[in-house]
Amino acid sequence: MVHNGIIENWRELAEQLRTEGHTFVSDTDTEVIAHLVERELSGGCSLAAAVRATLREVRGAFALAVMCAGEPGTIVAGRRVSPLIIGMGDGESGEGLLASDIPALLGRTRRFWVLDDDQVVVLRPGSMLVTTLQGKEVEPKELHVDWDLEAAEKGGYPDFMGKEIHEQPRAIADTLLGRLLADGTVELDEFRITDDELRHVDKVFVVACGSSYHAGMVAKYAIERLARLRTEIDIASEFRYRDPVLDDRTLVVGVSQSGETIDTLQAMREARQWDAKIMVISNVVDSSMAREADGVLYTRAGPEVGVAATKTHLTQVVALELLALYLAQLRGFAEPADARVLFADLARLPELVERALAPGRDAEVAEIAGKFADTRDFFFLGRHVGFPVALEGALKLKEISYLRAEGYPAGELKHGPIALIVPGTVVVGVATRTHLWEKMMGNVAEVRARGATVVLVANEGDEETAAQADEVLWVPRTHPLFAPVIDVVPLQLLAYHIARAHGHDVDRPRNLAKTVTVE
Ligand code: AGP
Repeated sequence: MVHNGIIENWRELAEQLRTEGHTFVSDTDTEVIAHLVERELSGGCSLAAAVRATLREVRGAFALAVMCAGEPGTIVAGRRVSPLIIGMGDGESGEGLLASDIPALLGRTRRFWVLDDDQVVVLRPGSMLVTTLQGKEVEPKELHVDWDLEAAEKGGYPDFMGKEIHEQPRAIADTLLGRLLADGTVELDEFRITDDELRHVDKVFVVACGSSYHAGMVAKYAIERLARLRTEIDIASEFRYRDPVLDDRTLVVGVSQSGETIDTLQAMREARQWDAKIMVISNVVDSSMAREADGVLYTRAGPEVGVAATKTHLTQVVALELLALYLAQLRGFAEPADARVLFADLARLPELVERALAPGRDAEVAEIAGKFADTRDFFFLGRHVGFPVALEGALKLKEISYLRAEGYPAGELKHGPIALIVPGTVVVGVATRTHLWEKMMGNVAEVRARGATVVLVANEGDEETAAQADEVLWVPRTHPLFAPVIDVVPLQLLAYHIARAHGHDVDRPRNLAKTVTVE
């Protein structure tokens, strides 16, 4: 048996099973399921009936698959909350496949179905039968997947993360395609929320986890600045337990590349209870969140295999910028003169990210990374939209290099963290030209004065910034609101090269799952 999730009533079930004579070899919720299935099988029923009966007894979140020696060639699987995708190989003896998400199966088949909550599937070579927990047959929902196999291969790169970082210009161009129109307006497809409903909105909550949360932070700056609409950003696992004030004039935007992260999914369900309008920014067509939301805006990054989010993060920022522009278009731009410049700059992002990734630039970052191969502690600082960039840069380094990396808003440094700056501490600052550049440089001076080694992300040709740095990560300049899309690129590369210098598997960092389907 394979189980992903948490069975909440496992202790009471285990207690009962022990009194019936079952002997446990572990202290896990998963083992309880195996014993329950065994109990049903010993009553003489089929494996499918045994799994259905078991799932009627358990509470919690699970995706599980069960096989038994008495029924070779059969896999019975079921789910509640945690996602489960079914794949079928071609031909009569086609293999049955199960996984949490599509990229895991892309190399094996192009035919996918999704299992809904409290459904059970029986897979045999070439056949599949989906039923409810009561055994009633149901039609499985086929998934439309236009990702190709090539997208799930390394294509000459040593790892998926490297390939996915370099796919970012294409991913951004695809995400903008057909949405940023030549006449300088934004059109959002698959949106399913009417313009009138959006005009009715008086507050936006963005909820997400990890890198998606950092993308969401950028939305707060963009929506408030462009559309003058109150916007809050929340970590999904906090949002649902803190009694947020929501009503039918609230728009809740879930940001999740997988569309399956349990914290974000449950936060959206919580918001639904308050009659809020729900939309999701997801990279996976027909993901659980996409199916449940009122509106969906797909990032078109293609499958992301590396555990560390790169191209999905950048395209989330782009999608959120599109949403901000769309809301501003509907409600009137706070500063109408802005619109034309913004549209032109947004359209140029693929080209600018390409420049940030040019072979020469990549080699420069690799060289800088080599100098910090022995450094154990990093500070990442930024202000305004540079703050989420700093957080994302720090997260990338933590995830794949296992090094301590703290992201801070630079202005907050003097309120405590500056105590940690000593000669040789490495500080990575986002110092591209925004209206807070001077203030940021003031913070850089504070850490330099305490002997920090300073690495700055700076705009190409900005020698004034470079003069204050020990090392420079050069990036092209864009509108400050879009700078997070470009400025994070050298930080992804820095984390990538440092991790590789340490000999780590950047695609499969320890302790991490690509999609977090447990609370
Ligand atoms: C990012 O590098 C991480 N792997 C992680 O923080 C991720 O962004 C988070 O788990 C959210 O995932 P989601 O976008 O699929 O919801």
